Amino acid sequence: MSQGLVTAAYIIAAVLFIFSLAGLSKQETAKHGNLFGITGMAIALLATIFNPDTSGVAWIIVAMVIGGAIGVRLALKVEMTEMPELVAVLHSFVGMAAVLVGFNSFIDLHPEQVSQVGVGAHMTGAMLNIHLVEVFLGIFIGAVTFTGSIVAFGKLRGLISSKPLMLPHRHKLNLIAVLVSLGLLVYFVQTGGTMPALLLMTLIAFAFGWHLVASIGGADMPVVVSMLNSYSGWAAAAAGFMLSNDLLIVTGALVGSSGAILSYIMCKAMNRSFISVIAGGFGTDGVASSSDQEMGEYRETNAEDVADMLKNATSVIITPGYGMAVAQAQYPVAEITQKLRDRGVKVRFGIHPVAGRLPGHMNVLLAEAKVPYDIVLEMDEINEDFSDTDVVLVIGANDTVNPAAMEDPGSPIAGMPVLEVWKAQNVIGFKRSMNTGYAGVQNPLFFKDNTQMLFGDAKASVEAILKAL
Ligand code: TAP
Repeated sequence: MSQGLVTAAYIIAAVLFIFSLAGLSKQETAKHGNLFGITGMAIALLATIFNPDTSGVAWIIVAMVIGGAIGVRLALKVEMTEMPELVAVLHSFVGMAAVLVGFNSFIDLHPEQVSQVGVGAHMTGAMLNIHLVEVFLGIFIGAVTFTGSIVAFGKLRGLISSKPLMLPHRHKLNLIAVLVSLGLLVYFVQTGGTMPALLLMTLIAFAFGWHLVASIGGADMPVVVSMLNSYSGWAAAAAGFMLSNDLLIVTGALVGSSGAILSYIMCKAMNRSFISVIAGGFGTDGVASSSDQEMGEYRETNAEDVADMLKNATSVIITPGYGMAVAQAQYPVAEITQKLRDRGVKVRFGIHPVAGRLPGHMNVLLAEAKVPYDIVLEMDEINEDFSDTDVVLVIGANDTVNPAAMEDPGSPIAGMPVLEVWKAQNVIGFKRSMNTGYAGVQNPLFFKDNTQMLFGDAKASVEAILKAL
């Protein structure tokens, strides 16, 4: 493959990636978006492997076969609810790759730093300085992404406590890590690149990434995942600079900036400050929460009564959450929706931006069950309508419908906008127990006079209602 052809292939791949992002921004076009992305990546891989500058193709193919086999196995095995964990692990790979590329390109340029028989630097002057900055920043961003993603994975999997780590002077510690790294960068460039400075910065960046994510509380994890997504993009872009690979720079920048936009949207959805997230360590500030206070009595109901209530309703809103995903209840939910609509009941869905465990989680499940898009509304579009609604079915949702977010300033989820379901005439809570949601706070909604609990696996409960209907 000639160099010209490689460049042309890279341009086509970059354009396909842009089409892919555009497609993925809407449910109707998401499948096409995915196809564009896959095609772009296939072209990019082929062009890179058959680039005249590429050597050791056999090794690359062996690595790809092993990596591809592991990837396919994992992708087939992973449950939809485990997706954020998988994404977090994949981000850690990108981070580690950037660290390894950084060290590799430094050793390539400064072999004498590793063995004393090296040939010395091939670059001089401004070019050398720019390259050293690229190496330093690439390793820094990669190392932060690596350990940050490992902690995020641990928290999402429940291996690490989802409570925020509250080290004394945690913000100062972060600041010191950044300032010392900056000092090391200046020293590194001035000395023309030394391995000890690079190694020291890497250790600091590992600790910094770990601390940055460890000090963020459970309920704020959605923002962390999208933030790490953005970091992994910048790490890839930095690797692109080090390898002088234009496509990697473009792709990294696309991932980095789209991740940053997603983080911003998530922050707005959760009413958190974007800057605090980037700086790490927001979430609870140790304020006492009233979550353990006595909530009073809750009332139970059964499937037949809920079916009667639904038959007599004129308008129903369904607010699904993580429990619907766990139970895989979207199919009977879609059937109930159809049945009620056939009877002339107005049925709509209210989707919270962080319901479930990944952005768009509920939308994906409902689309899978063929619920029409036009009755699936965002939180902002539907929040005003709850007061005119007869019945709200809260199916496996908890934090996203918790009034404490608005009423209790001491709550870990204080300030997060929620679906104001309690304003409806009747609320049915589908759960298996009175356990808390992801943020670990009790939900006063389930103790309100107009709420009744339907205990059991969400799928079984919805199927029982379907039968009674
Ligand atoms: P959650 O607050 O996680 O609550 C889910 C509820 O579903 C639980 O209270 C659980 O109660 C119930 N449940 C679980 N399995 C069930 C089953 N098989 N049948 C019936 N109920 C079941 O849900 P949410 O309202 O969707 O909120 C999402 C939370 O996750 C937020 O705190 C959000 O910040 C966080 N988060 C979101 C994301 C993204 S990007 N969306 C990523 C990471 C974290 P029982 O155990 O009593 O059944």
